[in-house]
Amino acid sequence: MTRLSGKSALITGAARGIGRGFAEAYVREGATVAIADINLDAAKAAASEIGSAAYAVQLDVSDQSSIDAAIAAVVARAGKLDILINNAALFDAAETVDITRASYDKLYAVNVAGTLFTMQAAAKQMIAQGHGGKIINMASQAGRRGESLVLVYCSTKAAVISMTQSAGLNLIKHGINVNAIAPGVVDGDHWVHVDAMFAKLEGKAPGQKKAEVAAGVPAGRFATPNDLTGMAIFLASPESDYILSQTYNVDGGQWMS
Ligand SMILES: NC(=O)c1ccc[n+]([C@@H]2O[C@H](COP(=O)([O-])OP(=O)(O)OC[C@H]3O[C@@H](n4cnc5c(N)ncnc54)[C@H](O)[C@@H]3O)[C@@H](O)[C@H]2O)c1
Repeated sequence: MTRLSGKSALITGAARGIGRGFAEAYVREGATVAIADINLDAAKAAASEIGSAAYAVQLDVSDQSSIDAAIAAVVARAGKLDILINNAALFDAAETVDITRASYDKLYAVNVAGTLFTMQAAAKQMIAQGHGGKIINMASQAGRRGESLVLVYCSTKAAVISMTQSAGLNLIKHGINVNAIAPGVVDGDHWVHVDAMFAKLEGKAPGQKKAEVAAGVPAGRFATPNDLTGMAIFLASPESDYILSQTYNVDGGQWMS
């Protein structure tokens, strides 16, 4: 399949997990993909495993100069930017009374400001090119409702859903479609970290939280990154030209809206 043939994509946080799965899928669909990550060594390793259509770019989405440099690196390498996936994010969990300013500031800097200002920089480049573009933000089922121990992360993902709505309405006049994907639970390193946090907070055995969560998914299992790639390809392709400001649940039936 070559639904993204000739397209230049930038995927943040693509050194591992869901972002890496998106990068592999986009390359299979004919795109050139920047694996942009704060962990440059991991980004380089991922790019070399994916093949010559993928390349590593250093990016810290919480740093404006790093965002600007990453967009410039994409334009230098691929000549243009057609697709952005705002995928990089951090997670934390705590009792409400134990949430720290440091945790709040860090998650908002990456998940909210990082998403906004990477989206802004990409949109400026797409507007200058004059041919529109596609922006996909990674939300979460966590943005659809609160969770007892996950106040900060849930609120950052609610912000992603809201920013997707406003930016989509504002940028469509430039032919830029902004949409979001809200996954449920996706297997990978992220969930190793989440399971360990819940083990500590709820006194569970390692792996117990993950097993309980998996049992509660209507589809009966965690997602793999591959379960999300169809939506990511669709939202980057011309088939979604009439769709904007939406957040699509790809979550095995966890949430309906
Ligand atoms: N895994 C899940 O169950 C799940 C569920 C819903 C939503 N999501 C969302 O999907 C996206 C990807 O999740 P994942 O599970 O693959 O995460 P992950 O933690 O496995 O990967 C995140 C990547 O982002 C990079 N990163 C972290 N901070 C960065 C920064 N400041 N600048 C650039 N890169 C940075 C990390 O190095 C890492 O490679 C996130 O937005 C996450 O919130 C994940």
